[in-house]
Amino acid sequence: MKLILLGPPGSGKGTQAKRIEQTYGIPQLATGDMLRAETTSGSALGRRVKSIMDSGELVSDEILVAMIRDRIAQRDCRDGFVLDGFPRTVPQAEALDRMLAENNSRLDAVLEFVVDEPDLIGRLSGRFTCRNCGASYHELYNRPKVDGVCDMCGSREFDRRPDDQPDAIRTRFAAYRRQTEPLLNYYKKRGILQKINGMADIDNVTREIEAVIAGI
Ligand code: AP5
Repeated sequence: MKLILLGPPGSGKGTQAKRIEQTYGIPQLATGDMLRAETTSGSALGRRVKSIMDSGELVSDEILVAMIRDRIAQRDCRDGFVLDGFPRTVPQAEALDRMLAENNSRLDAVLEFVVDEPDLIGRLSGRFTCRNCGASYHELYNRPKVDGVCDMCGSREFDRRPDDQPDAIRTRFAAYRRQTEPLLNYYKKRGILQKINGMADIDNVTREIEAVIAGI
């Protein structure tokens, strides 16, 4: 199964992609997490993209397409994957189509997370993530089961993202509207776009996604 999760910053893509990974045994390919791993490691790529990411702008298509091309060629992607944060521009979507066509493969569904903007701001400003595995939590809506301990990996170290500051949030929303929203029409025309009510609570969003997947 090959899925794309599409939606504005804070709409719940990462939260749900992790659940899909666990339930269906397909890897979550989260380009934001991959890029953040590069910045943390201090690699040349990480140094190149850090200031762009912190400002809330998009990193170049060339870098992202190369990253995803390498990733989906790996063994664990043989039976599918859930893309979280890619594609984000029409050229990225076209490149993905070409990669899949080369392997006689295709997308099964694109899930669009629909959430009102004021809710997104609240979600991003209250978010913290596990430093070890990247699991995403929220001060009010999604606290770890045991305070200070990651549910997924048991780590006790958490971070706040530099791009969850007000200026960067504004830039990310603008980038989403300008560069990513055109993808909704791109996939709608192909008949594979499915809307998900991202305003529901986390478990209900998961249930809606599972119902859509059952119908694929
Ligand atoms: P990325 O990391 O992909 O960030 P994003 O798309 O802005 O998405 P977020 O991770 O902020 O939100 P999310 O939808 O995953 O929500 P989450 O589940 O965490 O990208 C970061 C940067 O990397 C980009 O700005 C760009 O610079 C670069 N980049 C990445 N991919 C790129 C690409 N393809 N091309 C170019 N550049 C790229 O949830 C948010 C919060 O809400 C959490 O606290 C969570 O606990 C809570 N929450 C989740 N669901 C619910 C719910 N239903 N109800 C209440 N709270 C909820």
